[in-house]
Amino acid sequence: MISESPWWAESVIYQIYPRSFFDSNGDGEGDLPGITSHLEHVQSLGADAIWLSPFYTSPNKDGGYDVADPRGVDPRFGNLEDARALIKRAHQLELRVLVDVVPNHFSDQHAWFTEAISSKAGSAERKRFHFYDAKSDGTPPNNWISLFGGPAWTQIKTSDGTAQYYLHLFDSSQPDLNWENEDVASDFEKTLRFWLDLGVDGFRIDVAHGLAKENILIDHHDPEGLSNALRLDFEMSSEERGELLASAPFFDREGVHAIYRNWRRIFDSYDREVMAVAEAWVHPPARATRYVRGDELQQVFNFDLLVAPFDAAFLFQCISSTLEMLRQVDAPATWALSNHDTPRVASRHGSKASRALALFVLALPGSCYIYNGQELGLPDAQLADSDRQDPAFFRTKGLQKGRDGARVPMPWSGDKTPFGFSSGSPWLPIPNEWREFSVSSQNTDPSSTLNLYRSALKIRKNRFVGAGEIEWVDRGETGLLSFARGEFAVYLNTGTSAIEIPTVGTLALGSDREVKLANGTLSLPAASAAWVAIR
Ligand code: BGC
Repeated sequence: MISESPWWAESVIYQIYPRSFFDSNGDGEGDLPGITSHLEHVQSLGADAIWLSPFYTSPNKDGGYDVADPRGVDPRFGNLEDARALIKRAHQLELRVLVDVVPNHFSDQHAWFTEAISSKAGSAERKRFHFYDAKSDGTPPNNWISLFGGPAWTQIKTSDGTAQYYLHLFDSSQPDLNWENEDVASDFEKTLRFWLDLGVDGFRIDVAHGLAKENILIDHHDPEGLSNALRLDFEMSSEERGELLASAPFFDREGVHAIYRNWRRIFDSYDREVMAVAEAWVHPPARATRYVRGDELQQVFNFDLLVAPFDAAFLFQCISSTLEMLRQVDAPATWALSNHDTPRVASRHGSKASRALALFVLALPGSCYIYNGQELGLPDAQLADSDRQDPAFFRTKGLQKGRDGARVPMPWSGDKTPFGFSSGSPWLPIPNEWREFSVSSQNTDPSSTLNLYRSALKIRKNRFVGAGEIEWVDRGETGLLSFARGEFAVYLNTGTSAIEIPTVGTLALGSDREVKLANGTLSLPAASAAWVAIR
């Protein structure tokens, strides 16, 4: 149990992918004023906070996760005044604001990298990154593979004729920073303070497990396997993936924790509740708790549900073990069904099951993250290869389709694409069939996914928050998962046939219209969930 409840302990945090939320100036890309003008949507959903994916100065080779100036707003999104106005409006609407911080790498367009490549090998400018000489046969310093495919090293030749390789765990346009270098640490402290001084309430830390590297010159024993694990190859068992991740010499090293202890001191120096959530893919999962020890960060993402099958027994395992392990460090759980890096939940499980899963998860203790469009039940869009922009698509030569399908702009209103998102041509095409998903067409339909989320968030806020722990009743063996929490009994049927459950109480919410409670019996069709008020 959390002793005092800070705002983030059971918050619902809505992730906004700025490029795809709302375009206010007709250039086909979403922007900060577009977000500001549509924050009422987030408020009416019932979220407590927004998390903004990067909007910083960037050549945009990796959707803005290639940052050229972490304290500047990219002109495609607006300017600093727009950021200030957004934060102000969000706070007026009682929405806290988290922004992304991307400490593992900069863009190759960052001034430091430009300086590094025009400086000599061994210079102070190069020491901010990981520059190494080639092996004697001219090949890269080790066999590491980029998470986006291809080698993790690119060679730079300077005018004086010397050639060195630099490390990039992602695209070659994202050189990894050397966290043993003092300049790096102090620049990030400056960045954190910059956004906190502007009024944000916290951060989502990108690749939080990757900052400290060890054994940089040593080969990995299975680079191909590791790169499949990193790219979330869905054919791979989670055990196999986990073991490969744990063997990566650049992930989850002890050195990252000193960085977060330091950052925590900065957060605590502000006279408001500042929090940070770590993106940390680690194995075994219990290692995630190390990021949320008392003097480190407040939350760490749990990614199990992003890759979990729709299977009650499996869900029981991952939910119960997550709750158990976080209880030991007194940190709240986090739940996410979709984000900008993985196929959307409606595409993974279909519309019916994804509504059921959402309803079930929204009753859990801890914090829930909702990725923009998830509340509309958006699936991934089918895109032509010519529309794709994800560097993973290019670096794997099309073998991996990449993440663009989950990043298509939001449909807001109207009968035709681009459904009110932009007066111009959207940066990724919005399918013509998305009319039924638009906010305006779901607004008035009581059975829409949007209204299911709204109802769930309202009940959650008023009656689940603060209700404490869960008591498991059915643990998934027969496709049924259920628990009691506070005033409610919560059910999920992941099976393919309906289940009838004797129950007392009244149906507070069902994931679809076929969920019924009459004469003391709850009818739970295949792939559905229910909240029953029992007290
Ligand atoms: C972000 C991705 C990004 C990568 C490199 C991730 O974890 O969520 O979108 O491509 O970090 O910054």
